[in-house]
Amino acid sequence: VTAVDVIRTKRDGGELSDEQIDGVIAGYTAGQVAEEQMSALLMAILLRGMTSREIASWTDAMISSGIRMDLSAVTAAGRPTVDKHSTGGVGDKISLPLAPLVAACGAAVPQLSGRGLGHTGGTLDKMESIAGWRASLSPQQLLAQLTDVGAVICAASDELAPADRRLYALRDVTATVESIPMISASIMSKKIAEGTDALVLDVKVGSGAFMKNLDDARELARTMVELGTAHGVSTAALLTDMSTPLGRAVGNAVEVAESLEVLAGGGPADVRELTLALAAEMLAQAGLDADPEQVLDSGKAMDAWRAMVTAQGGDPDAPLPVPGHIQTVAAAETGVLQHLDAYRVGVAAWRLGAGRARKEDPVQAAAGLLCLAKPGDTVTAGQPLFELHTDTPERFDAAIAELDGAARIGADPLPRPPLVIDTVR
Ligand code: URA
Repeated sequence: VTAVDVIRTKRDGGELSDEQIDGVIAGYTAGQVAEEQMSALLMAILLRGMTSREIASWTDAMISSGIRMDLSAVTAAGRPTVDKHSTGGVGDKISLPLAPLVAACGAAVPQLSGRGLGHTGGTLDKMESIAGWRASLSPQQLLAQLTDVGAVICAASDELAPADRRLYALRDVTATVESIPMISASIMSKKIAEGTDALVLDVKVGSGAFMKNLDDARELARTMVELGTAHGVSTAALLTDMSTPLGRAVGNAVEVAESLEVLAGGGPADVRELTLALAAEMLAQAGLDADPEQVLDSGKAMDAWRAMVTAQGGDPDAPLPVPGHIQTVAAAETGVLQHLDAYRVGVAAWRLGAGRARKEDPVQAAAGLLCLAKPGDTVTAGQPLFELHTDTPERFDAAIAELDGAARIGADPLPRPPLVIDTVR
């Protein structure tokens, strides 16, 4: 297999053989396929697409580049493993209440997570606003915590699908991220290598998401469900709305605080609804018969949260960091809040210091914002619409500029898509 032949085949619209795919990914991992060759191949794939067989083969090759974790001891000890993956959204703190809730229902949730980059936040960045909490666990700690507590939120090992790590970085700088076959293979190689028995995907649709329209989101969901199922992972996907932020809090510590409200039985209606919908699908995929709403309202999910945080060195009773500076942004007119744009709100939180522009940048735990009104609410001119939090007040102007135009106020409420648009099984 020579890289030039593989590139030429895909450039001309041909189908790559398993041997060609294995060869090019193994060669790239070993440094024998040059960056410029892989870049050319990625662009050819983006333009020509891949068949289901090619996507499966590409996924297998990425899994084989690293280790495959074995969680069978957790299942054997009585907890079926089930994970959730979100394709990324604004105010998407759902993993925080969801993992302990599903654990309290009898499953084990190996929520291996990432950090934020750009306008979507990272689960690990949010969790790190809890004093003492550690994102890194050894494989032994991970297994023990999954068996005892049933929920882990931690950093994914570098040894899971390492080929994907390098390919994702290359896609990022060659404008080849937006390929449904490659996004599917990227996400699913990591989740299959993680060793979970079951998986529920939260595929976001709308301005704050990767997939801006429903047809693309549905194709992404179908491709990933097919990949998971073919690898023996019981997989389903929910297509959910990401045209407006989830909940009111967008940032780090503010999202932890909102998650705690949900775990205490309150919180914004949309965050509670999506947490319960994902929990129900996770329990179905794991083959467990429990009522997540009853478990949430019983306080058992909060108990599991406290156990999970404590097991990772965190103090669940420590006060969350508070920002050095707070400023509000007022409504320009009176009427109904018709739309609140997820993308702009996400960028504003990022500008305030909640997110990072480069992988190595630090984030501020106390940075972020609160959306004081949600679409459908009546607002009065001069009423605060957003509360902005930061430790570095020179950032306010950039955030306020981004929020200008994020909120549309009109005479009548506009119809809104349902939060859970569809389920793909
Ligand atoms: N998330 C991933 O992990 N991979 C992609 O390609 C896109 C989003």
